Amino acid sequence: MHKSVLLPEVIDSLKVRLGKVYLDCTLGSGGHSREIVEKGGRVYGLDVDPEALKRVESMNLITKQANFKDLKAVAYEWGLTEVGGILLDLGLSTEQIETDGRGFSWQTDGPLDMRADPSLKVTAADLINGLGEGELVKLFKIYGEEPQAKSLAKAIVKARPFKTTGELVRAIEAIKYPVRRHHPATLVFQALRIAVNDELNNLKAVLPQAVELLEPGGRLAVLSFHSLEDRIVKNFMRDESNLKIVLKKPVISDRPHAVLRVGEKL
Ligand SMILES: C[S@@+](CC[C@H](N)C(=O)[O-])C[C@H]1O[C@@H](n2cnc3c(N)ncnc32)[C@H](O)[C@@H]1O
Repeated sequence: MHKSVLLPEVIDSLKVRLGKVYLDCTLGSGGHSREIVEKGGRVYGLDVDPEALKRVESMNLITKQANFKDLKAVAYEWGLTEVGGILLDLGLSTEQIETDGRGFSWQTDGPLDMRADPSLKVTAADLINGLGEGELVKLFKIYGEEPQAKSLAKAIVKARPFKTTGELVRAIEAIKYPVRRHHPATLVFQALRIAVNDELNNLKAVLPQAVELLEPGGRLAVLSFHSLEDRIVKNFMRDESNLKIVLKKPVISDRPHAVLRVGEKL
């Protein structure tokens, strides 16, 4: 079901060569990995979500359920010290958003969970029902860049507790907003998902490890889906002295909105 984003561009940018090892840090439904294997690359892949690993079982890849923040340790476990390319396709797969019933989307009713890794302790319900109003304002501002953070937090505190995404969406929809591009729940859901899965810290942790693991000339390709992620990737690639930026201008896709940045190890 998941349609790999910018598939030809990602595969091109990784310069896949016969027999070389590639690390797919976000296996998802295996779409990018499948293409790397077709081109003769050897894929080692990881994902935090055990359901993702089940989906790629038939592909006979070497896989592990792990968080990419631990990339170096996982690669060493596999006996890998230098690889030809590394891919990070951030965010979630269509299967997770639409079918897993873990409350990632404001568009489908489900439990307020949002853990990509089911072993995590804190759910979206814990945050939305447990944080103080000021903490919710900060959460919506920092991880959602939500302009109405204050009125949203106030209304949410008044209407809680919430058990399901539907209940939360209805409370959000009850507030008056100026005309905006997104549904009013979009940024609140983004903020909760980032916080539950610690997404930005995971990204900051993996980038330097990925550069260390690349062989000279090896490529790092990162697909980001919102400006908070892309800013981290852009600044990292600009400042990392062991990396040459390959694409002066990133490749951008419209639907879904995604930004592809690529660096090459010096
Ligand atoms: C957009 S999907 C990848 C889709 C894949 N490239 C494809 O073509 O099918 C992102 C995947 O990354 C996983 N993921 C998110 N954060 C992760 C992390 N910190 N460590 C490992 N996997 C992560 C998600 O569980 C999800 O399966």
